This record gives sequence, structure tokens and C-alpha cells, in this order.
Amino acid sequence: MRRFLILVLMLVWPSVAAAQTVVVRADRMVDVLSGRVVDAPVVVITDGRISWVGVQGDTLPTLPDDAEHIDLAGHTLLPGLIDMHVHLDANANYAGYRQLEFTDQFWTVQAVTNARTMLDAGFTTIRSMGASGYSDVALRQAVDEGLIVGPRIVPAGYALGATGGHCDNNMLPPSYGATGGAVGDGPQALIRLVREQRRYGAEVIKICATGGVMSRNTQPGQQQLSEEEIRAVVDEAHRLGLRVAAHAHGTEGIRAAIAGGVDTVEHVSMIDDEGIRMARENGVWLTMDIFLTDWLLAEGERVGLLPENLDKERMVGQAQRDSFRRAVRGGARMIFGTDAGVYPHGMGGGQFAVMVQYGMTPMQAIQSATSNAAEALDRSDDVGAIAVGRYGDMVAVAGDPLAEIGLLANVAVVIKGGEIVRDRR
Ligand code: ARG
Repeated sequence: MRRFLILVLMLVWPSVAAAQTVVVRADRMVDVLSGRVVDAPVVVITDGRISWVGVQGDTLPTLPDDAEHIDLAGHTLLPGLIDMHVHLDANANYAGYRQLEFTDQFWTVQAVTNARTMLDAGFTTIRSMGASGYSDVALRQAVDEGLIVGPRIVPAGYALGATGGHCDNNMLPPSYGATGGAVGDGPQALIRLVREQRRYGAEVIKICATGGVMSRNTQPGQQQLSEEEIRAVVDEAHRLGLRVAAHAHGTEGIRAAIAGGVDTVEHVSMIDDEGIRMARENGVWLTMDIFLTDWLLAEGERVGLLPENLDKERMVGQAQRDSFRRAVRGGARMIFGTDAGVYPHGMGGGQFAVMVQYGMTPMQAIQSATSNAAEALDRSDDVGAIAVGRYGDMVAVAGDPLAEIGLLANVAVVIKGGEIVRDRR
């Protein structure tokens, strides 16, 4: 019997001794799952995961003596934010041909700072929508190993696209032999590229279904992958358990992406009512980065953007905002994505106010960046809400974000896995 007890103690003791318990209290909490605000919340986090949620006055579970208490009086607690469209290795300050001043690994090195900046701005999870050299996979690994501090990262690896398309490299003459990292034409070539991204660590597949704003010699309205090519990518990715995100600005390309079976459509600038209907009926999520146009038009020339890119942004920026209003009104499922990297990584929280200006309720805007985003990632089990079982990822703002959505541009406290990573109180 005694030997048995010692054995049990030996098995149980290390986990008991190592358990890290954190108790967070605040004035209010946004419960994104019920769409309601809870007064005087108490959240218990055990070893990085939420183990109990209640309100002050409830009988708390038994806490160890060394439990850490975080008192966020005067603040509202929200789930850690999720940005579904980020380029960690891009740097908004070096656009156009200025990018050629730097060696290849420069982009990964500076991405370490970008990852930290995103986390500090409240984004505890981000979906990378394309990176060179698998730098997004590298960052994910470095964060997970505890070597650098950053958000949870869902990497795409290279964005797949057609020869000469938005996701090719169209900046140099033929003698330089420069091409994008995942260029393919026809179903077979694209299927191979899906497999290659997965082999090297991609957890989501990004494709470029139309031309774009920031590329050279492409048009946002131009469809660049056939529906057959898109479907081939989607079928292969889904067989492998990966979701597909399609960059698509133009009306036809958006429709082809949805008809081809993608899970999320990115940018969505020129969606028509038929596209909105198709998105709603197929449960496709729309990611509309409607904040960045202000920064791009103000700073684009200074950072070296080509005149062609600025012209295209002038065509797309307001059209995208109008499309956003129609998509919200039309009942499409929306997720929050900023295209951080095209503009500075810390600014994304400013998009919430624009989303409300263009027709969302503050609660809808917050859900787009939390519970909806988690669902679109197929990660409702571990991110996107303050709920038992999920990671202890939270942000706190000084006041009521439902009355003042602009507060999310400037979060006061960021908690990742129960640990304060940023405190501006
Ligand atoms: N990465 C996108 C592209 O180059 C950025 C679009 C930016 N414009 C906008 N209004 N969202 O096409």
C-alpha cells in the first residue's frame, strides 16, 4: 500500500508542482460566444489554458498558494485578437524597388520584430497569408520553442499563383531569372505546389485568384486562375486537411474562387450581389482589409511604391469599403484581416472602427477577430474566446469597447497563455 502511494505521488507530484495558476479579474468581459458583456468576470488559467470562468462572488475552484493574481480594475477583458491576413516578413517602409537593397534573409530577421509588434498590439494569433523562404514556418517554430516572443502563427508558406500573376515576381527582366516561390500553371502543377507547401510546414494554402494592387503589371479585376485550377488546389488541400484562402479583388475571380470551393476570400474588393449570395450560401468567409488604404495613399510614395500601385489603390480602396458595407448587409460571414506588412504591423487595431463605420455593430467587429476567426481557422477548440479549454489569450482595454470601438487600436494589456506579454497601464 505504501509503495503504491509513493508511486501515485511520484506520478502526480511533478504536474501538481509545475502547475502555473493565474487568476484574472476585470470590470467587464466581452463574451463573444453569447454576444454579451459580463460584469466583474474572474478567469482562472492553469498551465496556459483557461480552466474556469465565472464572476466575482462565485465560489472559485481551490487555488494553489502561489497562484498569480492579475487585477485589471477599470478595464474590459476580450479574447486575444486574431488577424487572418498578415505578411510577417514584409516591411511597409520598403516598397517597390527599394526591396532589392536587402539580402534574402533580411526579411526573416526583421520579421522577428514584426511578430512581437503584432502581439503587443493584441494579436495573439495570426494567419500568415504568404511569406518567402518559409519564414512564417520558421517564426512559428521559434515562438513555439520559446526562443522569440510572438503570436501563435498559422503559416501558409508561399502563396500559389499563375505565371506572371499577382503572386509571381514581376519586378525584373527575364535575364535575372527571378520568379515567385510557388508559381504553377494548370491543375497538376498547382497540386504539386500544395503538397510542397505542406511538406515544408504550411497549415493553410493561399492562392492568388486575381491580379492585385501591390504587384507590377497585374490588374485587380483580372482573373488569373481558372475555376478548374482553383478546384484542383482546393480538393488537394482539403484531402490533406488544409484550408484554402484565395486573394481575389475582381468580381469574376471572387465568384470563381467561391465556386471552386475555397474557405476564405481575401480583399473581396469588387464583390457583386451574386458573389455575396454565393459566399453566404456556401459559408465562405470574407476577409476585407478596409483600413490600410488610408495609410497607403498617405505614405505610399514616401516608401517607394510604384505609381502603378498607387493608381490601383485609388481604384480599389473605396470600392472595397462599399463592398464591405453591402457584404455585411447581405449577411456574409466576415473575418478580420488587415494585410499587415503592406502597412506597419502594429496598426491593425485601427480597422475595428472602420468596420463599424461601414456597417458592423461593435460586437460583430469583435467577433470577426475572435470567435469567427477561430472558426475559419478550424481552431474553435483553442483560440478565439474566453472559454474553458482554450488558451489563456486575452487583451484588456481601458473602458468599454462596445461604446468606444476605437479603444482596440490601443490595447492596454496583452496576455498570452496566461502570461502578461505587454502592459501599458
Ligand atoms: N495585398 C493586396 C494587393 O496587393 C493589398 C490590397 C490593398 N488594398 C486594399 N484596399 N485593401 O492586392
